[in-house]
This record gives sequence, C-alpha cells and structure tokens, in this order.
Amino acid sequence: MKILAIETSCDDTGVTILETRGKNSFRILADELASQAKMHSAYGGVYPSLAKREHIKNLPILLEKVLRKAKIKKTDMIAVTYGPGLEPCLWTGITFAQALAKKWNVPIIPVNHMEGHIFSVFGKNKGSFKIPKIKFPVLSLLVSGGHTELVISKNWLKHKIIGETLDDAAGEAFDKVARMLGLPYPGGPEISRLAESLRIKKYESKIKFPRPMLKSKDLNFSFSGLKTSVLYFMQKNPKVNKAQIALEFENAVVETLVYKTKKAVLEHKIKTLIIGGGVSANKHLQRELKKSLGQKTKVLLPTRELARDNAIMIGMVGYLNYLKNQKKKPASPAGRYKIRANGSLRLGEMIK
Ligand code: KG4
Ligand code: ZN
Repeated sequence: MKILAIETSCDDTGVTILETRGKNSFRILADELASQAKMHSAYGGVYPSLAKREHIKNLPILLEKVLRKAKIKKTDMIAVTYGPGLEPCLWTGITFAQALAKKWNVPIIPVNHMEGHIFSVFGKNKGSFKIPKIKFPVLSLLVSGGHTELVISKNWLKHKIIGETLDDAAGEAFDKVARMLGLPYPGGPEISRLAESLRIKKYESKIKFPRPMLKSKDLNFSFSGLKTSVLYFMQKNPKVNKAQIALEFENAVVETLVYKTKKAVLEHKIKTLIIGGGVSANKHLQRELKKSLGQKTKVLLPTRELARDNAIMIGMVGYLNYLKNQKKKPASPAGRYKIRANGSLRLGEMIK
C-alpha cells in the first residue's frame, strides 16, 4: 500500500510518500520538507498567518515533487495531521488532503501530531525501516516548541498523558530565552551551541537559576518562572557573558526534565523510554537522561532529521490507525467523513 502523508501543524511543510510492507515495515519513496524557520526568524517565533500562506504555496509544489520522485500518479491512502498545532496551518493541510482524497477516491486518515513524535524514533528519512516489537508500557517524553508531556502508552495506539507543562513548553522557553539573549529563532540549537562551548572546557556554572516544580509531587513541569528569572538576572547583571546564561539555563531545563522523567520511569516500572520532539535533539538532555536512567531503561531517540517536524512520522501513525479502523469497519472513501483541525488536541482523545 502507498501512503501520502501531509504535515502542516507549525512552520514546516512536510509531504512524504511511504510504501508499506506488511503490518509494520515501511519504505520511503519520496520525502520533502520545506522549512520556514528563516522567514519566522525576523519575528522571533512562528507568525501564524505567514506560516499559513507558505503552506498553501508549498503544498502543491511538494506534492508534485514527491509524486514525480515516487513515479506514481496517486496513492492508496492519505494521512494528514489534524492537531495539535496552529489551526490556520492545520486547516491548509486538511483541506489540501481532502481535495486530493476526493479526486483520487481514497481514504483519508487524521493523525495526532504528538503520536507522530512518539513513532518518530523508529523512522528514517531514507530507505526502509520497521516498528519493532517492544514491551509495554512505554513512556515518552515529548518536548517541542508547543508541548512538554510525559505520555504512557499501553499499546502503540493507546496513550495517556501523566505529566505536562502548566505554562510554557520546554522548546518555547529555549526560544524565548534565546530571544532575550539576542539569538536567532529557533533558539534551542543556538543556546545549546553556546552552552556546549563552555561544557567542553569543563566550565562549571557560577549562576544559579531555579529548577521549577522539582519539589512538586506530580509529574508536571513549569518553565515560565525560569524564563522570568533569566530576565531579572540579565537586567541586574548586564555584563555577564551570554554563554554562561545559556549554560545555566540549559542546566535548569534539563535537570527538571530528567528528574520528572526518572520519577515517571520508577513509578510506572518503565523499560523503554522514547524521547521525541524538537528538543530531543538537545545533546545535554540526551546525555543526562541516559546517565540518570542507567542500563535498566532503554532510551530511544529519533535521528536529527526526525526529531523535528516531518511527514514521515505522520504516515506511520496514519497507517497503523488505518489498519486498526479496517478491523472495525473499512475506511470510508474521502469526502464521506469530515476532519476538523483541533489546535489543542490531546493524546488519548478520540476524534470528534
Ligand atoms: O518538534 P518541533 O520541530 O516543532 C514543534 O512541534 O514545536 O520543535 C521545535 C522546538 C523549538 O522550540 C526549538 O528551539 C527546539 O525544538 N529545539 C531545541 C534544539 N533543537 C530544536 N531545543 C533545545 N536544544 C536543541 N538542540
Ligand atoms: Zn512537533
């Protein structure tokens, strides 16, 4: 079966064609991603109406490219992200997918973007890959520009959020602090680069920012107070070097993420931890999590290409949902059922 997958939840337009082999094997026939990061850099964050306009412009161009590369005229199914994300952006992907599905007379499967980030650890952006057999429950730490969540999966399609941020997402905090430091968007890689420049010199932080929510009994996070502490510190100490601030800020975020993740691993007797979302590319977070969890917990990470938003992960989840629906009732051809964008869609929620 050939699948067209479309991702437009934020500032990346992703269009992919996957070929499935059996129940859990995939081959990438074509994959295109148009990033708008440079364009949004001027605003210090994603500017929704501009992002929407870019998606509308990119989608037909990328579709033509993937079809040509895959040497096909249509696919057997379409998977599209319907939330969470920026609603104007989600709608561009949905309306585009619906029009195509109608034209091709094929089913269309709505996909939760966060479920995509969970599966991203099994994907590659070239060649073939497989979703392996794994012992459940699996814990996922999903850390991106819009989300910070700890999710337990009882099986591949059954999830429950057990902890989340009460205010800013981890990636959002990286982006906002980067902006305060005068660094370009997206700020995560920039802060990380500065912090690493001191880490390799074994420089120990002399500043101390708070570790938010470390003492709370639950598995929730909060990053907005930390961001404010950085701001006050900068106002009081205008001469302190940017790298030192970046280092201590990264220390504070990572320490909190690692502490709560380890708490969840122990409480739920987790053997496999998945880290997904843009912030999973953070080297300090990867190292500290592995160090803290030791040998007993297997840590699965996405490749650099799949840590960021992409359509490959959307195609994988779309196919698994398609198979699950097939068991209940055959997938209905497009146009017969409506898909609505849901900007605040949560894992564990049913499609309305
Ligand atoms: O998953 P993603 O590409 O898009 C969303 O769905 O939000 O995540 C983007 C976020 C941005 O906030 C970016 O600053 C952050 O991931 N990020 C990082 C790193 N690379 C990307 N944060 C910290 N360290 C990094 N190396
Ligand atoms: Zn994402």
